[in-house]
Amino acid sequence: MTNLSVVGLGPVGLCSAVAFATQGHRVIGFDIDAKRRGQAAQGEPPFYEKGIETALRKVLRAKRFSVVDTMDAAIEPATIVFLCVGTPSREDGSMDDSGLRSATKSIAEAWRDGKRRTVVVKSTVLPGTTDHVVRPILEAAGRPFRLGVNPEFLREGRALEDALRPDRVVLGADGPETARILKSLYRFAKCPILATDLKTAEAVKYATNSFLATKVAFADELANLCDALDVSYDEVHKGLGLDPRINPRFLVPGVGFGGSCFPKDVRALVSAGRRRGAEPRLLEAVLAQNEVQYQRAIAFLEEELGDLNGKRIAILGLAFKGDTDDIRETRALPIARSLLAKGALVVGYDPLAGPAFSQVVPEVKVVDSVKEALAGADGTILQGDWPAFSRLTAKDFVTTMATPVVVDGRRILDPKKMRGVRFHRIG
Ligand code: UGA
Repeated sequence: MTNLSVVGLGPVGLCSAVAFATQGHRVIGFDIDAKRRGQAAQGEPPFYEKGIETALRKVLRAKRFSVVDTMDAAIEPATIVFLCVGTPSREDGSMDDSGLRSATKSIAEAWRDGKRRTVVVKSTVLPGTTDHVVRPILEAAGRPFRLGVNPEFLREGRALEDALRPDRVVLGADGPETARILKSLYRFAKCPILATDLKTAEAVKYATNSFLATKVAFADELANLCDALDVSYDEVHKGLGLDPRINPRFLVPGVGFGGSCFPKDVRALVSAGRRRGAEPRLLEAVLAQNEVQYQRAIAFLEEELGDLNGKRIAILGLAFKGDTDDIRETRALPIARSLLAKGALVVGYDPLAGPAFSQVVPEVKVVDSVKEALAGADGTILQGDWPAFSRLTAKDFVTTMATPVVVDGRRILDPKKMRGVRFHRIG
């Protein structure tokens, strides 16, 4: 059992904290946001994540996890401190490390007892950041530290499950003793563990997300080509996935990728590469392709309905994917804005993300059910892959919509069962 602290209680920090506590460590959590601290301490997670509420309450009751109100209280008992603060994109696509800097500074200030601690960066940071941003702050403060990097591979919606049962662990360490300390944290993990240096561990995270984003963009482009060449993507996908070097996963085409990670991480890598004289043409193309992919869904509507001015269009799924309330970079945003610009009346529904979405695009009428969204609609775009949406039947569309024009932007419905529906999907 290790005493560890987690600084930053967003989805990554809180899910990691709860998972470490569930696996037997004693964990303390801290966040500069008092509201977020209060919610976590009460067992009310400030975001939706499958299973987190029950697991959080369990570790709070068992006193394996507690939330403290000051950085001093977070640092004092800890031998390992995890940095889980956000590293958002700046306007120009580069990584904003200001949160990481200020969190490291306040850790250094709270660390007055001369004890040696291991500081581990879990935030997604560009290669070199831990050495060039975190290290100098701790050195300047004269703290006796070790440094580690432990990128997260948590899918939103499945973050707790992924943290409890990782399929790989990547540990960057500044030396063999740090590697040993970090490995001992993950004794519970029945998966390969890669121990490497700090910079490489940071790079693995970007490499992984960039490759997965490229896979999705490739699937989107291939599906567009299948449409142009009149070939079924389903069969091509099957054949493609049979090659073990490729595998069928993450090749579901649709309206493009969104979320807090893929767009931001690919942009940050491109921007960092450019600043150092590299020309990441492929990744730039991935971003460019993703920017326009959603337009295919709108083109299908126009093919069926002609001018969209005055037409009522429903968007099902407002978050960037199903099983999350996160609207960051959701494709529902460009879809809604483009439909509004064309004069359409846009109605949206999402099991969780409705309120957040209407704050950003108040012109969209957000309703409380699929039925309400579909009622009287001339067309609908399925943007989110919520399991409930995949159970929709032809009858649901035909009996409620004014004209049953359906664009499945996430490939979750079976076209063979869509009798009576003017059904489209990319590929
Ligand atoms: C992603 C990675 O999958 C995680 O491994 C990683 O830890 C995380 O980013 C992160 O960096 O924190 P996440 O953003 O939760 O996780 O979402 P994904 O499930 O990967 O989906 C990303 C986007 O790609 C979604 O908009 C999804 O709809 C789209 N997608 C995914 C497709 O269009 N097709 C696919 O085949 C797969």
